[in-house]
Amino acid sequence: MPTIPVSDVDLYTDEARTDPYAIYAELRDLGPVVHLSRHDLYALPRYDEVRAALSDWRTFSSARGVFVDPAMNAQLEGITLCSDPPEHTAMRSVLGRPLRADRMREITPRIEAEAERVVTELVERGRFEVVTELAEHLPMTVVSDLVGLPDHGRAKMLEWAEAIWDVQGPADERAAAAGPAVAEFLAFAEHDAVPGALRPDGWAAHLYQAADRGEISHGQCPAMMLDYVTPSLDTTILAIANAVWQFASHPQQWDLLRADRSLIPHAINESLRRDTPVPQFSRVLTEDHEIGGFSLAAGSRVALLYGSANRDERHYPDPDRFDITRRPSDHLAFGRGEHVCVGIHLARLEMGTLLERLADQVARFDTVTSRPLINNGLRGLAHLEVTVERAGDGSRGSAA
Ligand code: HEM
Repeated sequence: MPTIPVSDVDLYTDEARTDPYAIYAELRDLGPVVHLSRHDLYALPRYDEVRAALSDWRTFSSARGVFVDPAMNAQLEGITLCSDPPEHTAMRSVLGRPLRADRMREITPRIEAEAERVVTELVERGRFEVVTELAEHLPMTVVSDLVGLPDHGRAKMLEWAEAIWDVQGPADERAAAAGPAVAEFLAFAEHDAVPGALRPDGWAAHLYQAADRGEISHGQCPAMMLDYVTPSLDTTILAIANAVWQFASHPQQWDLLRADRSLIPHAINESLRRDTPVPQFSRVLTEDHEIGGFSLAAGSRVALLYGSANRDERHYPDPDRFDITRRPSDHLAFGRGEHVCVGIHLARLEMGTLLERLADQVARFDTVTSRPLINNGLRGLAHLEVTVERAGDGSRGSAA
């Protein structure tokens, strides 16, 4: 059996968190599996192997955590993301109930009204900060309300989520700085996010109602709160800001979308493919396993590099190009298989509605300034200031 290629690259420097794509290309060239010696991880950088792993939960288990740091994997045990069937099936069915495609119809009018309001207001101003003023709007007004935490918790959701994402890499300085906020959230989930304090018709309260019916245990509810709080806001915020940034950088693609709105779903996929907000999760092998001709031992932690797989030239020709006519519906930005993102319909609804309203009102975006987010579990922009040229009248923002 050949020896597995080894790399000492560090995926957690500021530079790699900002722009990992050269490292990803290097790893893809090294082989279908590469041992990352710094973090004792076996990385899968190519599309085919990541997709195969996602389709085989019996071999690639989530039950020993999907993060990098062993201590964090132990601490966050019991969340849906970090479980295997049959526990996973029961938790996911409860967790996913308010997020099913048919349930999106109930919240669509509210999402549409908020999208119309925020886009009109910002476009009238002509210049705005995309992350906080546009991308955060729907997650913070609608989604955090639907989760239904007590007010204090709702106000802290973003701060807690960012910290929880930051502890998903190795136990570095970024993770240490996030520690107190993570501890604060875990205490809140245990003691404050409880029946009586939760909004009775919110998603969080539904967890306890499902426990009352015996579908899950009451003890599982605090940990499952994390399944709602961590992924429901930042992921979509980054995805929305990334989409605007890509259209600002590729105005001809924006023209295409405005001319043909049926391209919106494909634009969402292409934007997520090219700039994947959740660049990796991991799995642990339940038995010895061969990947691309290399043998890995049971117990190995395997990192699924979604961000690299989505730029694999073996699967997507000219992968760095942003092209909304590419229709990459098989991208891995939402994962795949048993753990495929349960918020996929909500994320698409939020992104699609905003793009529709922006397409009505904006002829062109121009980037004024941008700054990357540096986080151990997420990738995207922390800040993106744009000016817009209004559709129809050719008027531009104040800085133009
Ligand atoms: C564009 C936005 C989003 C992206 C890129 C994203 C990405 C992902 C990915 C990659 C996974 C797979 C995890 C794995 O492989 O282990 C996942 C799972 C998950 N996502 Fe999302 N997500 C997004 C939006 C959301 C939203 C809006 C919610 C909730 C309201 C959500 C809730 C979840 C949950 C609970 C899981 C775990 C599912 C399971 O373990 O069965 N996500 N997401």
